[in-house]
Amino acid sequence: MAKIELKGIGHAYTSIDGEPDYALFPMDLTWEDGGTYALLGPSGCGKSTMLNIVSGILTPSQGRILVDGVDVTNLGTTKRNIAQVFQFPVVYPAKTVYENLAFPLRCARMERTKIDKRVNEVAELLNLDEILQSPARRLTPDLKQLISLGRGLVRDDVAVILMDEPLTVIDPQLKFSLRRKLRDISARHGHTLVYVTHDQNEAMTLAEQVVVMGDGRIVQMGTPQELFENPLHEHVGYFIGSPSMNFMDAKVKGGVVFVLDLPVGVLEQARLSDDAQIKVGIRPEFVHIQEDRTEQSFCAQVLDVQDLGNSAIVNVKLSDDINIKLKLRENAPPIGSTCFIGLEPQMVRYYLDGIAVQ
Ligand SMILES: Nc1ncnc2c1ncn2[C@@H]1O[C@H](COP(=O)(O)OP(=O)(O)O)[C@@H](O)[C@H]1O
Ligand SMILES: [Mg+2]
Repeated sequence: MAKIELKGIGHAYTSIDGEPDYALFPMDLTWEDGGTYALLGPSGCGKSTMLNIVSGILTPSQGRILVDGVDVTNLGTTKRNIAQVFQFPVVYPAKTVYENLAFPLRCARMERTKIDKRVNEVAELLNLDEILQSPARRLTPDLKQLISLGRGLVRDDVAVILMDEPLTVIDPQLKFSLRRKLRDISARHGHTLVYVTHDQNEAMTLAEQVVVMGDGRIVQMGTPQELFENPLHEHVGYFIGSPSMNFMDAKVKGGVVFVLDLPVGVLEQARLSDDAQIKVGIRPEFVHIQEDRTEQSFCAQVLDVQDLGNSAIVNVKLSDDINIKLKLRENAPPIGSTCFIGLEPQMVRYYLDGIAVQ
């Protein structure tokens, strides 16, 4: 297994007026040996571009890639010792499931008995053991994708396994169990695993570190908890969490932050002028209904309640311009009623031009 370093890696497929039109802006990034990473971001933000640069399918316009300190930027795919699983199944239709799984091992010239052992292990893991002798062409798309996954996992000598939205064609129930298996496999074998997805749940449940991307840039890398509690960018607040983080226009007076004339916190370090256009961010989980009004309560009107069984999402109106959402464990107030709400002080965050300030 290996440590992967991207140094000043950037890529532009095209240029505009002689200037590179970056799909991936120049960046530095390190994936530690044995770590489990998710690349998370909307479609078109550059996830596949980054992955293809690491595997060697794509040569970057600039920058260097190091695997365990060795520069592999100019090495072809086969010399990099990296396994990649794609979004859509890549199988040899004429070969059996067994031969499809064995193929990467045959290419690596592994002994026949060892191949047999590894293929059977992976087949068992992915519940493919009953159909090992079937030709791959007869299988459904999700079974074909399982074979692709198996081919990615079958070699245990690879430096890193890259997966580009590999569960897209798999049904939700199976997806859930496969995610768990992938996490177990990577923990057991100590693989460095990089997993691309646009699904925040998938990223947060699978990875130790999530790299949030937007418009060709890394916006934040952190543990699921860090991304949830401390989004460094509004984009992370929106993209992670369900529902998204609430953002409210705010004013600063002498370091104290006000929303609708109520003080919600103090900005200690950032010295912002009183006309700074800041926003307050708070997750729906950290907004509460209060029994009694206090100096820090907002008076709110309940617009909508969505009952999720064990919790409820409540949409409330604070003013003509500000609606926010609460995620409540307890019973929700009736639609149309008026209530007092408070923000959990330690969980209030501040943003200036989209970026967190303290
Ligand atoms: N071969 C290509 N030629 C030109 N533009 C491309 C090519 N592949 C991707 N792009 C563009 O680069 C950007 C990033 O694409 P991609 O890395 O595939 O994003 P993602 O995997 O996050 O959906 C998109 O704007 C996409 O249209
Ligand atoms: Mg992609």
